[in-house]
Amino acid sequence: MVIEQCPICSAPLDMSGLSPLVEVSCPACGVPIWARSIWNQYEILDTLGEGGMGTVYLARDKYLRRNVALKVLLLGENGGLVNSEKLAQEARMTALVEHPNIIKIYDFGQSQGEFYVAMELIPGGSLHDRMHQAEGISEEQALRVGINVAEGLEAALRKGLVHRDIKPANILFMDESTVKLVDFGLATALGGSGSDGDAVLGTPYYIAPERLDQRPEDLRSDIYSLGMTLIHAISKIPPLDEMWPPFEKLKREKAMPMDLAKVAPGVSAPTVQTINRMVAPDPADRFVSYEELLEHLRAASEGRILKEPPHFESGKSRPGLKDWIKAGILMAVPGSRK
Ligand SMILES: Nc1ncnc2c1ncn2[C@@H]1O[C@H](COP(=O)(O)OP(=O)(O)O)[C@@H](O)[C@H]1O
Ligand SMILES: [Mg+2]
Repeated sequence: MVIEQCPICSAPLDMSGLSPLVEVSCPACGVPIWARSIWNQYEILDTLGEGGMGTVYLARDKYLRRNVALKVLLLGENGGLVNSEKLAQEARMTALVEHPNIIKIYDFGQSQGEFYVAMELIPGGSLHDRMHQAEGISEEQALRVGINVAEGLEAALRKGLVHRDIKPANILFMDESTVKLVDFGLATALGGSGSDGDAVLGTPYYIAPERLDQRPEDLRSDIYSLGMTLIHAISKIPPLDEMWPPFEKLKREKAMPMDLAKVAPGVSAPTVQTINRMVAPDPADRFVSYEELLEHLRAASEGRILKEPPHFESGKSRPGLKDWIKAGILMAVPGSRK
């Protein structure tokens, strides 16, 4: 319980679960009061964004005298220690990875029973926000975003993590040439086990087809979601005609190849070829490593087209894929998490 006192009549006020920037009235004397806005050394100044887990605020760290992004889990809204453990897990996984394209975690803590993560403030808004602005996202910018995110994901994979929720709202602009990946809330350790059957958690627009029927997921599932994100960003056309289509319809749509050239006719051939391959319905037809993907994205951003390896034919699994799996570079991730 979060109990504070009315500054006027000193009546005790239960502030549990109230959003920090909400105005409430003292039940005893009726005077308007702001709900609590101090979490240990952090003072909440503004709202940055909302997500499934909680709200992310702009906050001031009064000890270090810098602004941070504070993700707060309000117990009144989300309830219980299960979510606080999920938030802690998200913070731990993110903190494992040190990379310029992955959000930096500063601190995890609680204040009067309410939990928070303090992290680096990313000032430039999300890719989702930018896609909805008049200027939109150019092919060149989209490729830069793709390269940044693939580099971040490669670093996460080196720590054994797959992100599993790549989408425009989880890609934030630090400046015009750098984006950072946030929200490791659905991330799992490769080969880790899970239990809550989150087969359809994630956003239907971007989730890989293999998650829908609980086939193993690995880095190629993140590559798919990044590809769908780029198609949406460049074309401005949502990848599905409904946000939450019926499950069977979603499966049918995801089983069909996508063609960026159809939704964005002006885009160059190397970009089309690279992104179409990222979103191939069969994971075996996508890129097998970030190194390979990055080679193609970089070539596309220079207007060059890279030849497919001679043994690769669309629609067929590549010979040698089993060796990649054996070597531990591709691994199965169960379709659920703790
Ligand atoms: N470090 C940050 N700096 C600035 N804005 C952020 C930051 N982290 C999150 N946000 C904003 O909050 C939104 C939700 O954050 P996210 O971590 O994705 O939460 P959720 O897990 O609830 O989806 C983001 O889309 C973004 O707009
Ligand atoms: Mg999010």
